[in-house]
Amino acid sequence: MKRYKRYPIWLVALLILSFIVSACARSAPKKAESKELNLLCTPQVEWCEGMKAEFEKKYPDITVNFVRMSSGESLTRLRNERDNPQFDIWWGGPVDSFIAAKKEGLLEAYKSPNAKNLVDPKLMKDPDDYWVGVYVGSLGFATNKNFLQDHPDAKAPESWDDLLDPVWKGQFMMAHPSSSGTAYTTLCTILQLKGEEEGWEYLRKLAGQVLQFTKSGSAPARFIGQGEAAVGVVFSHDIVREIEKGAPLVLSFPKEGTGYEIGGMGIIKGAKHPDAAKKWFDWALLPETQELGPKYGAYQAPTVKGAKPARPELLQVNLIDYDFEWCGEHKKEFVDKFTNEIAGAENLRK
Ligand code: F6P
Repeated sequence: MKRYKRYPIWLVALLILSFIVSACARSAPKKAESKELNLLCTPQVEWCEGMKAEFEKKYPDITVNFVRMSSGESLTRLRNERDNPQFDIWWGGPVDSFIAAKKEGLLEAYKSPNAKNLVDPKLMKDPDDYWVGVYVGSLGFATNKNFLQDHPDAKAPESWDDLLDPVWKGQFMMAHPSSSGTAYTTLCTILQLKGEEEGWEYLRKLAGQVLQFTKSGSAPARFIGQGEAAVGVVFSHDIVREIEKGAPLVLSFPKEGTGYEIGGMGIIKGAKHPDAAKKWFDWALLPETQELGPKYGAYQAPTVKGAKPARPELLQVNLIDYDFEWCGEHKKEFVDKFTNEIAGAENLRK
């Protein structure tokens, strides 16, 4: 009788296992590409709409659904949806909120190959890749020209202390830091410029000048342009946008220094369409994408090499050495203090 060579049992088992694995790999269906992207969009709605249209042009198989929400509202929404996230990516709004979101475990790290395009990666990228910067903008003062004409004793403010002049009592507008990243940038700028003790005292006096707090950061520029209030603190690019639309506004800056934002972007932890979110992320870090801003009335400066700022003069002002980490780390504490001790967040003007 013919004798067959006997193979060790472990070798036979290994051969069978590798056959099964390779058969499974051949027959496993490829994970379908996402056809949707749910975008949490914090800049002005015209820019969100424009970005949606441009992205869909580039990726016709993906539909972008976006909701425009101010920074503080966005953070609250992400906290509430932590166990069942509805958004895939968050684009725009000062990075202080992204730093706070990272700390709370609401973002997913992503190392984009296009992060190499950033002009200043140390400043514009989280060291652990939870967020990157997609634009830069400085805070300015918006003053109504007609008010200045009718009040010869009033002058467009050139310092933070000018905002406390009695001439602006009940004529001053800003957003509330609980909902708005613009207002939080203002709050944290003051704390850095004046120190905490004097800074909180100043904020208390400033709140005493307020006609009404708004929900979104850019809204005061619109209301001041319409003559509902006379002066306010808004990101300078939003003031320029209103001026371009014909609003009678003067833009000025505080000579002792102003705060600025780096607008952030990050993928949401547990995103349902991570592949589409990564496509948006990579695309938003291209110079040609960042140069689209002015087409949609957005004059924030780009963060990537090769993209030209439409309004470089908005950053050629006295900018403070804004500490994003410190402001992000203390965001909840500072917002709660402002809301509980200085001005509540009820009845914010939309
Ligand atoms: O209107 C655009 C913009 O000023 C962005 O530059 C900024 O990141 C965002 O709005 C902040 O919005 P909010 O103050 O409403 O959070």
